[in-house]
Amino acid sequence: MAEATITREHAQGLQWIKKDLLGLEELSAEEIRLLLATAESFREISLRPIKKVPALRGKTVVNLFFEPSTRTRTSFELAAKRLSADMMNITAEASSITKGETILDTIRNLEALKVDILIIRHAAAGVPHTIARQTSASIINAGDGAHEHPTQALLDLLTMQQQKGRIEGLHVSIIGDIAHSRVARSNLWGLTKLGARVTLCGPPTLLPAQVEELGARVTWDVDEAIRGADVLMLLRIQHERQEAALVPSLREYRLRYGLDEARLKSAKPDVLVMHPGPINRGVELDSYVADGPNSVILEQVTNGVAVRMAALYLVSGPPKTEEANA
Ligand code: CP
Repeated sequence: MAEATITREHAQGLQWIKKDLLGLEELSAEEIRLLLATAESFREISLRPIKKVPALRGKTVVNLFFEPSTRTRTSFELAAKRLSADMMNITAEASSITKGETILDTIRNLEALKVDILIIRHAAAGVPHTIARQTSASIINAGDGAHEHPTQALLDLLTMQQQKGRIEGLHVSIIGDIAHSRVARSNLWGLTKLGARVTLCGPPTLLPAQVEELGARVTWDVDEAIRGADVLMLLRIQHERQEAALVPSLREYRLRYGLDEARLKSAKPDVLVMHPGPINRGVELDSYVADGPNSVILEQVTNGVAVRMAALYLVSGPPKTEEANA
């Protein structure tokens, strides 16, 4: 497969030198572009009758998830398999962590089993970063608390790039529970580094403190956030990360912040409607909008495989030969 090599050359001849992929805050714009260019080159593999290349043959990849997931875990598994890696899934509830083993002891045991790449999702911010410092295996952050979800933001960026032909200069409004959203944080880093303008919108109780310092415009007024935006990214309310109810009721939230047919009519005709999933239909997004012509929600899911192939490929080591990609 020549495309991966060609696109990587197009990405200014950069090489990936990091062991891990932990967040977009620590990446340069060039590193983000390299990840996107590599993902773009991997997209066509999933369209082939035989969806497999030998790029990661002989590598062992483990999904280690301490929180539920449909999209991220499945697409990492598909990505690893399409690159010919050996892939395993471990969930916290089916591991010896339930018998009192620490996470670090679990990691040391996986290292002893010669695992090359660990994909970690955890409810506590910083867990993948702590583990990355203690193991020689590569760590990919699949979501740590309300901190970062780098591969989600990368697949969002890839989708915007494909649909709009650029990231720079786009006006992206992220609407919903910003305070508890790792997706919002990773997108904010990625979008601002690549030159997009970001508006964050939600009820005051769902906006983080000092949010303006993050480099975005902030509004409580959803109609203002919708007007003129090129992309509307809706987020669900993350009840699992809230200690107290932060909105009076879901009905009121829907009335004040939900994107429905009437509100969509006030948006640009070619606005992209995005959502990382899972959607709470009838709360942040009506089905009319979620399933309508402006929605690229399932394109986001499809792009998740290519982005995760790129992440696995780049953290796995030096560039592969043409033969490895054939
Ligand atoms: N977007 C996202 O992280 O979805 P999952 O929780 O299903 O992985």
